[in-house]
Amino acid sequence: MGIDSLMITENGLLLAGKGFRSVVLVGRLENRLVAIKILRSDSPIKSMEHEAKMLTIANNANVGPCIFSYTKDFIIMEYICGPTINSWISSLSFESSEKLKKVIRLCFEDCFKLDSVGLDHGELSDASRHVIIRDGVKPVIVDFSNASTTRKVSNVTSFFSYIMYGKVAPNVRQILGIKMQNVDVMRTYKRCISEENFNSLIMSLGL
Ligand SMILES: Nc1ncnc2c1ncn2[C@@H]1O[C@H](COP(=O)(O)OP(=O)(O)O)[C@@H](O)[C@H]1O
Ligand SMILES: [Mg+2]
Repeated sequence: MGIDSLMITENGLLLAGKGFRSVVLVGRLENRLVAIKILRSDSPIKSMEHEAKMLTIANNANVGPCIFSYTKDFIIMEYICGPTINSWISSLSFESSEKLKKVIRLCFEDCFKLDSVGLDHGELSDASRHVIIRDGVKPVIVDFSNASTTRKVSNVTSFFSYIMYGKVAPNVRQILGIKMQNVDVMRTYKRCISEENFNSLIMSLGL
């Protein structure tokens, strides 16, 4: 979602997005735009504190929107201006394959950073609404509300499933030339999470 496609609510607020736990508004803090994620009264989660802690861990690994402050009811974080990964991919032409490969590679790298610090995002097998492409080149993973430091990490494997089997535009699999051999390399990484196995995966995907 670009800044031009933000919604204006009945009371004149700028809406960046809605989830089933929260609404995300755009505000201004000093001289920058920020996202204000507010807990919905009907949310199954009753506090934003867990998400704030998870996002802080992600930030320490250089992943996710930068968190500025939080309370039990809201989180103020960096506003990421851009389309979600699905709409960005759908608008790509076949000639943009290098751009697509670069963005997918950056997504995998962020997933690997999260795997390496033991933080499982939890919702990357349907990454469609949880990766925003900033400036047409930089993917940012959002929504750490379902993240965990105790669950077995599966960020790289989940993102791989999204690319391989998910509701992503079919031209992605075509451009990347996904093959069964990629699944074998993915399994090796899943069995043993290491930089070497991650690099083999990236290589086998031609990224
Ligand atoms: N930091 C952010 N910058 C811009 N848009 C955001 C940001 N965080 C969330 N959004 C948008 O708001 C939507 C809902 O936020 P999300 O964190 O997924 O809420 P929920 O936990 O309720 O699912 C997202 O799908 C995304 O489009
Ligand atoms: Mg969400």
